[in-house]
Amino acid sequence: MLTVAIVAVAASPMAAAAEPPRQFNEPADMNRYVADLISRMTLQEKIGQLNLLSSSWDITGPTLREGYQEDVKAGNVGAIFNAHTAAYTRSLQKLAVEETRLGIPLLFGYDVIHGYKTLFPISLGEAASWDLAAIENAARVAAVEASAAGVHWTFAPMVDIARDPRWGRISEGAGEDPYFGSEVARARVKGFQGDDLAAVDTVIATAKHYTAYGQAQAGRDYHTTDMSLRELWDTYLPPFRAASEAGVATYMTAFNELNGVPATASRYLLHDILKTRWRFHGFIVSDYTSVNELVPHGFARNEKHAAELAINAGLDMDMQGASFLSSLAPLVKEGRVSIDRIDDAVRRILEMKYRLGLFADPYRYSDEDREAAAIYNTEHLEAARDMARKSIVLLKNERDLLPLGNGASSLAVIGPLADSEADMIGSWSAAGERKDRPVTLLEGIKARVGDTVSVHYEKGASYRLGDTDRSGFDAALAAAGRADVIIAAMGESAEMSGEAASRTSLGLPGAQQELLEELRKLGKPIVLVLMNGRPLSVGWADENVHAILETWFAGTEGGHAIADVLFGDYNPSGKLPVTFPRNVGQVPIYYNMKNTGRPYGVGGEAEQKYRSRYLDTPNTPLYPFGYGLSYTEFAYSDMTLDRKAMGEGDRITVTVRVSNAGEADGEEVVQLYTRDLVGSVTRPVRELKGFEKIFLKKGESRQVAFELTPEDLAFHRQDMSYGAEAGAFRVFAGGNSVDLLEASFRLTEDVALSDAPAAPDREERQ
Ligand code: BGC
Repeated sequence: MLTVAIVAVAASPMAAAAEPPRQFNEPADMNRYVADLISRMTLQEKIGQLNLLSSSWDITGPTLREGYQEDVKAGNVGAIFNAHTAAYTRSLQKLAVEETRLGIPLLFGYDVIHGYKTLFPISLGEAASWDLAAIENAARVAAVEASAAGVHWTFAPMVDIARDPRWGRISEGAGEDPYFGSEVARARVKGFQGDDLAAVDTVIATAKHYTAYGQAQAGRDYHTTDMSLRELWDTYLPPFRAASEAGVATYMTAFNELNGVPATASRYLLHDILKTRWRFHGFIVSDYTSVNELVPHGFARNEKHAAELAINAGLDMDMQGASFLSSLAPLVKEGRVSIDRIDDAVRRILEMKYRLGLFADPYRYSDEDREAAAIYNTEHLEAARDMARKSIVLLKNERDLLPLGNGASSLAVIGPLADSEADMIGSWSAAGERKDRPVTLLEGIKARVGDTVSVHYEKGASYRLGDTDRSGFDAALAAAGRADVIIAAMGESAEMSGEAASRTSLGLPGAQQELLEELRKLGKPIVLVLMNGRPLSVGWADENVHAILETWFAGTEGGHAIADVLFGDYNPSGKLPVTFPRNVGQVPIYYNMKNTGRPYGVGGEAEQKYRSRYLDTPNTPLYPFGYGLSYTEFAYSDMTLDRKAMGEGDRITVTVRVSNAGEADGEEVVQLYTRDLVGSVTRPVRELKGFEKIFLKKGESRQVAFELTPEDLAFHRQDMSYGAEAGAFRVFAGGNSVDLLEASFRLTEDVALSDAPAAPDREERQ
């Protein structure tokens, strides 16, 4: 238990009225303190606590309410977002503490998604490291920097499962798999929140966007989602559940509707699942004006009706729309919203303020000395570089072109992303500086090779959608002509992924593809360095260039990290957390699909016509989930199971030998999958159940062991109860979701784990 000295707030009206807490994390003290405060609040003061407004620093949505400082002084605001820096948050906090009747401190939120100032790779890139400790540490560093700059609350992690690369927000999450997404969600919550919210360098986290946002129809942002409850429970909810188990403090609702009911006003999602079934004690915030958007959704008649539906569904805080502020008082007076529901929402929010220690010292996070020491400190920059190296995925490496050895005396660095600072840090880069700080690929290469290699840079082409200008081609080809090896840095601009950034094609935008084809005609070795926020369909490049590195948007230290990999100072170890399709027509494509009644490839040649397939493209992806090469070779052998059958309470240990059979030391992500052959509902052809990232010296081999229990085999069965079904299973181990060793076992009895998930209530029967 941490005891923190009380820092004087004697001048504030709050201090005069209530004894400030002496201890954090003391439930009895907190309950008393918060209950006492609520008992002294007017209805309007309570409603003020439920209102979250943006400061004018960053605008992350369509509307902006003017005069938020006046609102703060009037006691109409419980939290502010997009305000940061120690000095600025302190000045706003002063308004709340000194100029409102009760002096209740503000909570400052911000989108600290993959770093505050020191930017790590975009979230999808971090996930590609499959290194949970590094992912946790990235969130930890973000929390240390942001908390020193006055931020208490991050709107992260985004834990939406995403299987549609047209959707730009696929860049913000951990990819397509519920098991993997849950592991990453836990690591991120732990990293942001630490073990103790009262510690001044932790921030409260947000699991968003609750829920099913990732399945927006046709990959168009904010679009409708419609899915079976089984799909919801088995695929989309697990990372949200994992976040709750990890103690996440808040949830943010999604913009989309789910099965006809907008998530922001879904009593089934908010009240029944989150607050009742999962016993979530924190608070739920809407997304940006998503309460008001219940009107255009055609779910609410007007904003007052929207506020009524949302708060009664279980929403606690309204982001930016101010509809709670304008409508809740009349709704309470009319008896349409109960004072108990208001008090419950207020209590949840005040408890978080208490846990953060804000009642003891409202300014404890706004610390200019700590801010100066934390931001861009060497340790943070090193962590960002390390994370960036770990996130890079080697997709192709013909004739061991990489790592670039001492053979090349001149390099051509070509492409619109080769020297772009702003793009390197990706979208949702919070307070990150887009100039001067980010290390570009060109800078990273030059820093690595010094004077030993001549480097010829040309931008060559634009990545802007629809820009076919070829005027830079000649210079690019001339530069390439002078070099031994061509490094082509191509992909998307940072803003082409993230929110409101959907695409209907997955190729290289602008004139990049054409330029790449021209470069290829020179007959020189080409390394394609991809920067992008979504899986791209780079089939031509896969056939025609010699090496491909997927580097996502690698963050502040990105250029150094990519150079580390290009020159072999770091042996790439990333694996794809999401499937790369051959073309957009294959979407949705993900590894854990169903078999169908007519699986392609089974039976003789003549039988293939009426099987599940395309006429013009194979069923297989360009690069599968879990895939990534290394500068060494890993061999898998000796897969064994310690038993061939298990029942309730048993476990099976699966072991596999992994050997480093190549010429370099390296890391490998060993992956374990299962397949349930027959179920009361059909089951996916593969499901990830475990992974471990190991380091093996050249020539070394190691046995890796995984344990499987009946719990690992559970799913929502035909009656929607959760459990595992007796029968035959296959288990697979390997370095990606396709090339796998295989064995079999049996589950000897059904194992029930919980009752049916609460059915939606009457209004929301789906
Ligand atoms: C996004 C959220 C984000 C919020 C605040 C919204 O538009 O959907 O992910 O946290 O803005 O910036």
